[in-house]
Amino acid sequence: MGAGPKATGGSAPWWRDAVFYQVYPRSFQDSDGDGVGDLRGIVSRLEHLTWLGVDALWLSPIHPSPMADSGYDVSDYTGIDPTLGTLEDFDSLAAGCRRLGLRLLIDLVPSHTSIEHPWFRLHPDWYVWADEPPNNWRASFGGPAWSLDEGSGRHYLHSFYPEQPDLDWRNPEVRTAFAEVVRFWIGRGVDGYRVDALDRLMKDSGLRDDPPASAEPPLPLHPEQAALDTIHSRNDPEIGLALAALRDAAGEALLVGEVYLPSRELPRYLEHLDLAFAFEFLHAPWSAGEIGEVIAAAAKLERVAWVLSNHDFPRLGSRLGEEAARAAALLLLTLPGSSFIYQGDEIGMVNGADEGIDRAGRDRFRHPMQWEPEPGGGFSEGTPWLGLTDPERRSVAAQREDPDSLLALYRRLIALRRELEGGLDVIDAPPDMLAYARGAHVVAINLGVEPAPAPASGVVVLATSDESCNLGAVPAGEGLVIRRAVV
Ligand code: NOJ
Repeated sequence: MGAGPKATGGSAPWWRDAVFYQVYPRSFQDSDGDGVGDLRGIVSRLEHLTWLGVDALWLSPIHPSPMADSGYDVSDYTGIDPTLGTLEDFDSLAAGCRRLGLRLLIDLVPSHTSIEHPWFRLHPDWYVWADEPPNNWRASFGGPAWSLDEGSGRHYLHSFYPEQPDLDWRNPEVRTAFAEVVRFWIGRGVDGYRVDALDRLMKDSGLRDDPPASAEPPLPLHPEQAALDTIHSRNDPEIGLALAALRDAAGEALLVGEVYLPSRELPRYLEHLDLAFAFEFLHAPWSAGEIGEVIAAAAKLERVAWVLSNHDFPRLGSRLGEEAARAAALLLLTLPGSSFIYQGDEIGMVNGADEGIDRAGRDRFRHPMQWEPEPGGGFSEGTPWLGLTDPERRSVAAQREDPDSLLALYRRLIALRRELEGGLDVIDAPPDMLAYARGAHVVAINLGVEPAPAPASGVVVLATSDESCNLGAVPAGEGLVIRRAVV
């Protein structure tokens, strides 16, 4: 096994307290007027990321794809989708990141390929087959997890859309093929991978039925999956076999797992990965008690990646309400460890229209970035692939001019984060107040509807709004960071 999470030695790895910024390439910046964001567009906007102060960016998939699942159906793992650019454009992007001191992560999609990937015809034994559907497994977006392949007359497994056949990671040739992919991009300058759908990578070797659900699933699932206890169709105990192969190929490169499971299930994955997203945190109801419990449990693992939104779930501004966006930023960026920001959250973007491109209804979370306060948002000179939502109401340019904007708050929080030390210590506070210490600092967020007394005394070094600076009380919906008085 290569140098993995256990081999980091004395000094902390670069990602330990890093802030990551998720770029959804098709919606970030278009450089050629075709209405679709691209790699050159990303290069032209790197300054936004350095101005914000983030450490790294993660690009959602950039490889050739028939787009049945917006790029998560890859048909060539070592190419660049022509709508996004070329390998040379990728090299320029990697060089630009290096010059600016930004680390670069790309998305690795190992659980399935596109059905149009040549492997599906050339190496059918790399996939999972049965003459007839052998069990009751359901796909993540609904429908059976087995589809008929007309050519062979057999059924193949797909944990997601039928256009995404699942690979068989028990087959050593699959592991070798992915090791080559992992090394290819590391050779081209990536610092790591966000690894897709890892809880789906390994399933029961006996393909046993999932039993009927005995309780609500710990994280939201499609209702057809939620009706089952998905204990055989995913999260197989033999996952280490696959993860060890990925780790071996990645060496010291960062591996951040998308493991859609509660924190208690993550240790098995963290034996090989550096980080795993904290999805319980993303889905926690906006209440002090529940968030407090979730962050305390996740922080114990020490290597979770804090995340409140991404391209799969409602925009923060819509999910929590626009009022809560400032407190959510404070929370996300003051927790110990690494935190992920989804593009557009820093200006408070809300859900856009469902334009019927993604069959699972996720267009709403993927609308183009709003750079300028004008109808096209400065995103593209052509017709955008998804319409702009409300650039006149919120944009990077307008918020950069305003020291009280949400964008300015994100920037201040990222700077302040460098001064926060120590682990997470959830402290006693009035009901509805979420409060935790980070060394000499105390973070207090009032999630109630009445002002509440601050849980510590000292100097307020950051507040979500001017009013909150009046130490003694934290106004409803606001939060602050206090540097405790040294006694
Ligand atoms: C998780 C990705 O974030 C999502 O967008 C995709 O549909 C599934 N994995 C399948 O790859």
